[in-house]
Amino acid sequence: MSLDSAVPPPLDKLSLKDAVQEAQFSQRVLIHSILSRADGGSGLAGHTIRIGGWVKTGREQGKGSFAFLELNDGSCPGNLQVIVDAGVHKLSDLVPTGTCVHVEGELKVPPEGAKQKVELRVKNVINVGPVDAGKYPLPKTKLTLEFLRDVVHLRPRTNTISAIARIRNALAYATHTFFQKHGFLYVHTPIVTTSDCEGAGEMFQVTTLISEAEKLEKELKDNPAPSEADIKAAELVVKEKGEAVAQLKSSKASKEEISASVAELSKAKENLLKLQERFKLGERCRLSAGFPKKDGKIDYSEDFFARQAFLTVSGQLQVETYACALSSVYTFGPTFRAENSHTSRHLAEFWMVEPEIAFADIKDDMNCAEAYVKFLCQWLLDHCYDDMEFMAKFIDKTAIDRLKMVASSNFYRITYTEAVSILEEASKEKKFENAVEWGIDLASEHERFLTEEKFKAPVIVYNYPKAIKAFYMKVNEDNKTVAAMDVLVPKVGELIGGSQREENYEVLRDRILEMGLPLEPYEWYLDLRRYGTVKHSGFGLGFERMILFATGMENIRDVIPFPRFLSFRLFVNVHCDMLEFRLRFEAFRPFALYCFLLVVETWSGSLPLGLGHCLTGSAVCRLRLGAWGSGASSATGASSVLLAGKCFSTFRPNSHYHFTISQSYFITFLIGNPIPQLTEEYW
Ligand code: 4AD
Ligand code: MG
Repeated sequence: MSLDSAVPPPLDKLSLKDAVQEAQFSQRVLIHSILSRADGGSGLAGHTIRIGGWVKTGREQGKGSFAFLELNDGSCPGNLQVIVDAGVHKLSDLVPTGTCVHVEGELKVPPEGAKQKVELRVKNVINVGPVDAGKYPLPKTKLTLEFLRDVVHLRPRTNTISAIARIRNALAYATHTFFQKHGFLYVHTPIVTTSDCEGAGEMFQVTTLISEAEKLEKELKDNPAPSEADIKAAELVVKEKGEAVAQLKSSKASKEEISASVAELSKAKENLLKLQERFKLGERCRLSAGFPKKDGKIDYSEDFFARQAFLTVSGQLQVETYACALSSVYTFGPTFRAENSHTSRHLAEFWMVEPEIAFADIKDDMNCAEAYVKFLCQWLLDHCYDDMEFMAKFIDKTAIDRLKMVASSNFYRITYTEAVSILEEASKEKKFENAVEWGIDLASEHERFLTEEKFKAPVIVYNYPKAIKAFYMKVNEDNKTVAAMDVLVPKVGELIGGSQREENYEVLRDRILEMGLPLEPYEWYLDLRRYGTVKHSGFGLGFERMILFATGMENIRDVIPFPRFLSFRLFVNVHCDMLEFRLRFEAFRPFALYCFLLVVETWSGSLPLGLGHCLTGSAVCRLRLGAWGSGASSATGASSVLLAGKCFSTFRPNSHYHFTISQSYFITFLIGNPIPQLTEEYW
């Protein structure tokens, strides 16, 4: 292509008419603006336009005289059919899936009987972003969501992930619309914090001490710390130089001689000081892995913030400060939890929407939560219907009906005590894995029973036992429960957690102490009760859980662009000379053959641990220590291990080892459906 033809022609050279316009900051018409018209775009026939997008499928036709391209630009789930003649551009460069094309052409009504209402006849190819079909990681075949998690940088090009991206965007927009409409102020709460909002100790620490310790270790390797003998020698030099000065002074030597000698003494002292400093660093490295210590504990006064700091688990405490001044506020941002939960509903980094309302009690809070969730559902029906149709067709048949049901019906409201009675009654016939009694924290199976089986609708459970809830929740008059509420929805379980806040200073302070938390990090929070305290309430909606609920997607890792989650941890037992690990698959299929390759990360890099297969839902793999290639069959299913690293010979018998397996190394091949997922109990 010549350089000239690569430059898009100015807009006025294109015969754009009223109904179809180029995107304001981009040199193309959005495919959405063509396909979303009531006439499917046919009314635009005759218009010359530019479009850009990525080829979903391309094929040469008519013995290579022209090519059909299905083009998608991410503006909607639909593709625009594009026809390019061989005379316009080399067709083999355009047809590979994933190719980016920027073209100009005329919209035409296709011949009768064609599926689409409009197509584009290309007159000029402005630019091409080519793809080597043999290397492109996303071939045209149907790809599993699990596979796509290993190519997160390319997966937005797939139909499912792009539909989720648009739904996610719509829900964010709807969130701001809802709260702004109701007079809430958007507050940006910090990500780095010193206080644990939920008091559960599931925080990621923010520190530079580790990198500094590593730097120190490296530096000391290149330039070793002095020994005690070096220090002693330097002390001796100082002593000698000191004596020399004294000698000169007592012998009334010249001023020049004395000052030269004093200068030498200063130099020796300086050198000694430097050596002593480095000696201390050497000792720090030797005795406490490079960390500064005081009274046997890590000394955080030497850390970046001069105190222990963490990534926030919730913006609530900080947003309360604004609620106690500006009345109705909300925060919407990333939150982080170092929970040991490897489930399809937990992320280590997730987004939370947290409104906080002054002069509001638990009832107002529940009303707000219900209105907000209904608003989100209706918004998707009104603004994202094409994407929701896609989800209903390919992911969850009931997705649209569920949105309609939630948008139009009232949520059930029951107290925790009532919920426990219902569950106790149900457990006479149904076996729950976690026994039910008043005082337990409801498990996911209980929550899902209530919302999916008992009520078949969203349920708000409120007034939980105070012992299982956070310190900031308002203690009820019974002194046994707190004014907490959780919104439970089908498919997800807990979608929202919230409460009325304890506004009484003494009660709040006692609750902090009762929970074994230190007062100091919460002093500023207590100030809100010391000065001008107000009745207030709020809640947090897990944004990804809302997307799961709306779309019917199964795994939370597929509804956030870049999922961050607990690494697969494999606990390995070493019996005698055998290394044993157990795996279980979520999707149990008696006659399906599962094959898997595990690659563990060891201290010396990545190591293939085992390639095995099993005929049942679980497998026990055994590995003979120090052997290259060994096989064993297990009690639960035939399994074999073909690869073993030599470093296993260093393992001691009858001891436990703990590996981290990166999810990306877990490859599952499957004959039969569905794709197995490892269950949480083995992480
Ligand atoms: O119930 P949680 O822990 O409540 C709070 O954090 C309160 N401080 C909120 C508030 O009152 N302002 O979390 C709120 C919601 C949960 O209901 C759940 O939907 C979601 O956050 N959530 C998670 N989502 C994904 N991964 C995780 N690890 C989550 N933990 C909680
Ligand atoms: Mg909760």
